[in-house]
Amino acid sequence: MNESTFCIEMKNLASDGRQIGCRVIPFDTIDSTNTYALREGQLGDVIVADRQTLGRGRVGRTWFSEPGLGLWFTAVVAEPTEGLTFASALAVREAVADRCALQIKWPNDLLYKGKKVCGILVENRNGATAVGIGLNVHHRREDFPEELREKAGSLSSVAGGEWDRAALLRDVLNALDRKVMLLTSGGFETIRRDWADACNLIGRRIRNGALEGVVTEIDGRGAIILDTPSGVERIISGEIGFLDGD
Ligand code: BTN
Repeated sequence: MNESTFCIEMKNLASDGRQIGCRVIPFDTIDSTNTYALREGQLGDVIVADRQTLGRGRVGRTWFSEPGLGLWFTAVVAEPTEGLTFASALAVREAVADRCALQIKWPNDLLYKGKKVCGILVENRNGATAVGIGLNVHHRREDFPEELREKAGSLSSVAGGEWDRAALLRDVLNALDRKVMLLTSGGFETIRRDWADACNLIGRRIRNGALEGVVTEIDGRGAIILDTPSGVERIISGEIGFLDGD
């Protein structure tokens, strides 16, 4: 069977000069690029698919991954590295910064005007780390399932213009490669300030589960320090909601 244009374009992105994406393994359809990466990926591989039948999100959610609409890909990196999820969010933000200023919603969702355009799922297995990135690119509002339409957006729907998925993947991989090199050489501190600034949380009134309060700090591990009526709390995971507007 002839290789699809999608697979040819994606495979051509493989680069010797970059550690992440030295090999790009494209699929027209796969269950989940993260699942494949954790099972068969080698260091530096990037697995990318036009469609996922079992795309996975955080906290057991599914990730809507229909063909032609987005970039669904996973990079295999060396080992669990502190700050990797934050670095990945920064890399996506940086890759599109010329055309659209994405906000990072703690810890690593990327939003534009309140709509989520990118989600990141980092998983570890047997010493390998899979950085899974789902970036909505071409969706119109009606392309999303009804229950996602208020919350989700795509680069073209929120920022307009033409987006080329191969060029976008190249830019994200270049940025991710740079961020992972920073983490490897100098640890989380090398990116913490940029990431915390992009989250723009200090002084915001938020909710996390039953906790409500004002963010006073993001600490050296990336946790939120929250001033609540019953004392200071440290939040390390979970979804936050804003109580003072988007
Ligand atoms: C989230 O819930 O925000 C994280 C979504 C991560 C989705 C991506 S798409 C590519 C990779 N493969 C998966 O199955 N999930 C991640």
